[in-house]
Amino acid sequence: MGGRIVSVSGSVIIADDLENAKMNDIILVGDNGLIGEIIKMDGSRAIAQVYEDTSGLRLGEKVINTGNPLSVELAPGLIGSIFDGVQRPLDLIMKKEGVFIKSGIKMNAIDRTKKWHFKPKANADDDVEAGQEIGEVKESSLVKHKILVPPGSKGKIKKIADEGDYTVEDVIAVLEDNGKKTEIKMLTKWPVRVSRPVKEKLPPMIPLLTGQRVIDTFFPVAMGGSAAIPGPFGAGKTVISHQLAKWSDADIIVYCGAGERGNEMTEILTTFPELKDQKSGKPLMDRTVLIANTSNMPVAAREASVYTAVTIAEYYRDMGYNVALMADSTSRWAEALREISGRLEEMPGEEGYPAYLARRIGEFYERAGMVKLPGGKTGSVTVIGAVSPAGGDISEPVSQSTLRVVRVFWALDAALANARHFPSINWLNSYSLYTDNLDQWYRKNIDNDWPDLREKMMSLLQKEAEINEIAQLVGYDALPEKDKLVLDVAKIIREDYLQQNAFDDIDTYSSTNKEHIMLEIIQLLYSTEEKMMDQGVTLDKIDNKDIKQLIARIRYTKEDEVSSLSKDIENKIARIGKKGALHGKS
Ligand SMILES: Nc1ncnc2c1ncn2[C@@H]1O[C@H](COP(=O)(O)OP(=O)(O)OP(=O)(O)O)[C@@H](O)[C@H]1O
Ligand SMILES: [Mg+2]
Repeated sequence: MGGRIVSVSGSVIIADDLENAKMNDIILVGDNGLIGEIIKMDGSRAIAQVYEDTSGLRLGEKVINTGNPLSVELAPGLIGSIFDGVQRPLDLIMKKEGVFIKSGIKMNAIDRTKKWHFKPKANADDDVEAGQEIGEVKESSLVKHKILVPPGSKGKIKKIADEGDYTVEDVIAVLEDNGKKTEIKMLTKWPVRVSRPVKEKLPPMIPLLTGQRVIDTFFPVAMGGSAAIPGPFGAGKTVISHQLAKWSDADIIVYCGAGERGNEMTEILTTFPELKDQKSGKPLMDRTVLIANTSNMPVAAREASVYTAVTIAEYYRDMGYNVALMADSTSRWAEALREISGRLEEMPGEEGYPAYLARRIGEFYERAGMVKLPGGKTGSVTVIGAVSPAGGDISEPVSQSTLRVVRVFWALDAALANARHFPSINWLNSYSLYTDNLDQWYRKNIDNDWPDLREKMMSLLQKEAEINEIAQLVGYDALPEKDKLVLDVAKIIREDYLQQNAFDDIDTYSSTNKEHIMLEIIQLLYSTEEKMMDQGVTLDKIDNKDIKQLIARIRYTKEDEVSSLSKDIENKIARIGKKGALHGKS
């Protein structure tokens, strides 16, 4: 099983004399046993990417093949953890070793000594299948960790542990299937590059509500769906990803941060532990798993990180949770692919990315889904990836390959960000292919008129863009009165509805109920003023300044005060409407 290093080039090494090795085997490289993964075999010669810093490796040092694929450890203890791309516990390592992680450090991802309070949820003699719940552990203040029969196992329960405290390596159940006995522990492993099996994927029919108006109203993502956030430098990708982590109605957050700047890791490590879960007031980390990478970590670990993240997400999905996975930014991951491919001297594709870039991106997003679980429950993984194309030009390969697979596109816009219009989601270029699927949900749960209101608002925004073009030619004053009205109302939609300040205590989150009230008010103002115009009133004669100011206040108004404010505005609109009618008759 032993081999020797014959070449080292950055994070790629070549080892000789590995007779029985195969693609994707994990090897231990050099005297310190750095973790590497075989990415190419040529006879008994293996080419491998190494997940740790390779400086200091010398030719001739030994290489040992474990014969196992790159896997993650799955058990209670994941929640609240901060891992690197190959699931090394960064927070623990940093406590022990400081900020710079030395190569060859061995530390379990999951604590072997900690005891968890296990409650059995099945009985001896029960027949159980893979995915079925046999027990439960309270993992954090917010998460009940379901202990499931692992994929591939089934049978009759011969023994199950009594309620009590156990480590993740204690046997908590024994199954028997055709005379074959299987011991079940809370700790299981899963190879990261393989999706966990599902019985059936279901069509995504429920929105992942985010509390972000422009998203929930115009470009919703479904639970179990996929979305991309492409945007140039500083356009707000990270703020949106954080907002989704804080406010979306997912049960579990897996946040995979791959930053370009060296200090971004410290940023993630310091900001996340301080974020609050807004609904419970508990730390957000009580339902979050964090995967952190930076540019100063080996590129190969960054390459693996998205798979580690999505595998952990699938694991919680299998417990019946709705999981949201945020990857910020996937461009850093793609660059890792490019660098490794370059070292392999593969034939480069577009812009130096490997030819398999599109396939890899596709495979990642395809692990999103709403799935049916044993016992009729459902669980979901929603995948949201930020993309940072150089110069914001989305014609580049990572953006293009992403757009081919995701169904929601939140196009962040440099011009909007410069004008401090946040979130800088461009309402004319963005889209969601889930809108039709989700309309039914919105009709049933918010209001039957939701799709209609949404369409009306969007058509005003689209008309605004057209009218602005005409106005540039003929001048504003030459516009028909009704066009002026469209500009007037579209401005309200943009400034008081689409814009949302992530750093304002109230504005940071809008319930769909609040969103609906706002949309109805804006629509009422528009239709009232339009009627007045039919009666001959011109826009400059409509005294709506007071009303506009009140509408601008709704976003900063607390949830329980919104409906009284909106009544007030409605009355005021009715009053100008009446005046308009009188004016028209006179
Ligand atoms: N919703 C928002 N409300 C208020 N300010 C915002 C909002 N979104 C973004 N900003 C402002 O824009 C700045 C840049 O945002 P952010 O860091 O998310 O951009 P980015 O696209 O992730 O940048 P990078 O390319 O450097 O990763 C923020 O620091 C903040 O000042
Ligand atoms: Mg960012």
